[in-house]
Amino acid sequence: MPSLPAQVSPPEFAISANLPHEINGVEVLALPVLPAPDEDSSVVLGPGAEEAAEALGIDLLAVLETTGATGRTGEVTRVPVVEGELALVLLVGVGQQTATDFRRAGAALARAVKDRASVASSISAIAEDDGFEAFVVGTMLGSFGFHWRSAGPKERPVRQVVLAGVADADALRPALATALAIGGAGWRARMLATVPSNVKNPAWLADQAVEVAGLSGLEVKVWDEDDLAEQGFGGLLAVGRASTTPPRLVQLEYSPVSDSPEELPRLVLVGKGITFDTGGLSIKPAEGMVNMKRDMTGAAVVLATMAALSDVGCPVRVTGLLAIAENAVGGDAMRPGDVIRHFGGRTSEVNNTDAEGRLVLADAMAYAVAELAPDVLVDVATLTGAMKVALGVQTGGFFANDQALADKVSAAGDAAGEPVWRMPLVADYEEKIASKVADGDNAAGGAGAITAALFLQHFAGDVPWAHLDIASVGDSASDRHEWTAGPTGFGARLLLQWLRSEAPLDDIARDRAARDRAAR
Ligand code: BES
Ligand code: MN
Ligand code: ZN
Repeated sequence: MPSLPAQVSPPEFAISANLPHEINGVEVLALPVLPAPDEDSSVVLGPGAEEAAEALGIDLLAVLETTGATGRTGEVTRVPVVEGELALVLLVGVGQQTATDFRRAGAALARAVKDRASVASSISAIAEDDGFEAFVVGTMLGSFGFHWRSAGPKERPVRQVVLAGVADADALRPALATALAIGGAGWRARMLATVPSNVKNPAWLADQAVEVAGLSGLEVKVWDEDDLAEQGFGGLLAVGRASTTPPRLVQLEYSPVSDSPEELPRLVLVGKGITFDTGGLSIKPAEGMVNMKRDMTGAAVVLATMAALSDVGCPVRVTGLLAIAENAVGGDAMRPGDVIRHFGGRTSEVNNTDAEGRLVLADAMAYAVAELAPDVLVDVATLTGAMKVALGVQTGGFFANDQALADKVSAAGDAAGEPVWRMPLVADYEEKIASKVADGDNAAGGAGAITAALFLQHFAGDVPWAHLDIASVGDSASDRHEWTAGPTGFGARLLLQWLRSEAPLDDIARDRAARDRAAR
């Protein structure tokens, strides 16, 4: 197997009570600029900026006026200086100063300080806790890079970020730790999704999960192809059978520190882990196959989330299931018309081998419902191109059979910067997934994202369930806000934002009737 070169790491973060210009030896100062409060005034310098202007003898406000700066989010004005190690002052717009503004300002800053040794910034000094966290997450993820160049990476993240001008540094340390965990999860999911599939086969991905579990104190179990055959995981086996690298199922276990953890409610997260999706015999055209190394983003998101649960203080039990296979072509490939038997016995007629995600998820969901007694079930998958048509590439889609769960998912997505829109589980379309010979048909036409969700719903039983279809948002065409061009790892921040809350599973599915209504 080819081996990847060492990758760049995120910046290191420190907190200081000093203002940026008072910190010795930094290479860059990054100072906040606020939009003009009304039409008759000019932009406003934020904390630390006036003091720096005075110390450096530069009229920063005049600079902003000549360049026509507006203070809008992420606007960066560069002022080169020569003053000891100090080489550059960046004036960064923070717009309306919401968490989103701070996240985007952080990402803009990260791009402007690539290859620098250090930056001291007072931007986060004007933020509340959630804005402070968002700034750190944005700075981290805007720094993301991945390379396989013979001469080393083209750019490196700034090595150190000093969050300056913080009155009570100790009070902010927990927020910093949480932000690093959430940003780190986004980074990990993005990294895994970016690794090329000549390295990333099912065994490799399962090994990554075992390694991550070791580092994060999670229990882990791996099923190889023989174990899967023995226990009847027909979906994983059928999808993975044409590949020279056979499928895997991985189970990861997180339990909060508690006197009686077995009494705590339990969430099961399931991730689609197709390490490459050719479409199988229903082969994809070349353009459709280009980005299919990232078809394991759901599994990457679940793994990255699991690894960060203890760092964000998740108070419930969480089990992660990674359904991993390569959807390849070959003489032994599953064929259109084949019927497969999932874990637990439900059968599917495979009318399109490119609708493989639902086949592997079905196995894992059926296993979860039959064996793990979940209180709540959530799956994450790059499942349908139809989602892109419905929502474009900046909003994810999700389905839920429970209103309280839907509300939590949607609020967490908004707060974390990974927005998702709820789609309907239209019961009337159920006839489209009916098969002449089996319990279900994997390739219903029509509203593709909805029929895929309806297919999965049969495997959720009566467990409160949400399905995140992140096909639309799995890849960013360009550097934009905290997204970097390429795989996004979308979903890890959303899940952690939800699971860090005080009682993430409370209020879900007390009311069976409400669930039935939602499903209608
Ligand atoms: N992995 C794809 C979905 C996808 C498409 C993800 C584009 C990211 C970008 C999935 O396995 C797939 O091929 N779905 C088919 C389903 C169809 C054959 C019923 C699709 O969406 O076309
Ligand atoms: Mn496919
Ligand atoms: Zn796929």
